[in-house]
Amino acid sequence: MVTFVFILEYNFNEVLIFMNTRKLIIANWKMHKTVDDSKKFIDELISENKNFECKVVICPPFVALGAIIQKCHDSGIYVGAQNCHFEEKGAFTGEISALMLGSIGVDYVIIGHSERRTNFHETDAIINKKLKAVFKNHMTPILCVGETLEQRVNTGATDVVMSQIENAIDGLTSSEVANLVIAYEPVWAIGSGKTVTVDDASKICSKIRNFLCSNYGAEISGKMRIIYGGSLNEKNCKEFLKSDELNGCLIGGSSLNVESFSEILNITGELY
Ligand code: PGA
Repeated sequence: MVTFVFILEYNFNEVLIFMNTRKLIIANWKMHKTVDDSKKFIDELISENKNFECKVVICPPFVALGAIIQKCHDSGIYVGAQNCHFEEKGAFTGEISALMLGSIGVDYVIIGHSERRTNFHETDAIINKKLKAVFKNHMTPILCVGETLEQRVNTGATDVVMSQIENAIDGLTSSEVANLVIAYEPVWAIGSGKTVTVDDASKICSKIRNFLCSNYGAEISGKMRIIYGGSLNEKNCKEFLKSDELNGCLIGGSSLNVESFSEILNITGELY
């Protein structure tokens, strides 16, 4: 049973004062691209985009992180990992700790992606520990939340998402919450070619901010970036990016191709 409290009416303009206006565009490459492919992508991305009007984060596979961090140095592009372990070190064969990621200059870490929740059985409790580990190592977590189609029908997207958030942020300090990025990604929209409507995504993201506002205040919730992800591409991203409720997008498949991704960045830049 979820026990959070909603303030149904609050002064959204007050929150907007604090909101970051520079949109955040995150590329989640998942298990795609060799180190060479990753380096080539960054070279081409930088040569096609001299200035990045939005905040760009590229999340390559672990093996490419070091090379990408070097290439992105002074480019304005931030680098993220797709996961981490919550322990700093130990007998966890095959795992990479937040400490290790922080030590090579990673800026962001995606935590709780639905593919990890489903395929690697990550629970809210594990996700909570990972968020704390990421903050402890001075990086920014991108917390992914979202409902399955079944949950959407049986429980409702809002209750599922709020419960995931409430459990994930348990014990975080207010300043950690202010720095958290939340990506609302309905599971059924990921890689499926289906998106929620802009209105629906905006409403859920607004409810997330509303919930955080009621628990942490307008200043903290206004500083947070709440973004949408799921089957976005260069053709449909504009409408989502135009929404004041959405601080950016998390792009999977369409971030693998430099032309599509550059187009998304151009579209975002034109909105300023
Ligand atoms: P998609 O992936 O854009 O390919 O739907 C998004 C994600 O999984 O983060």
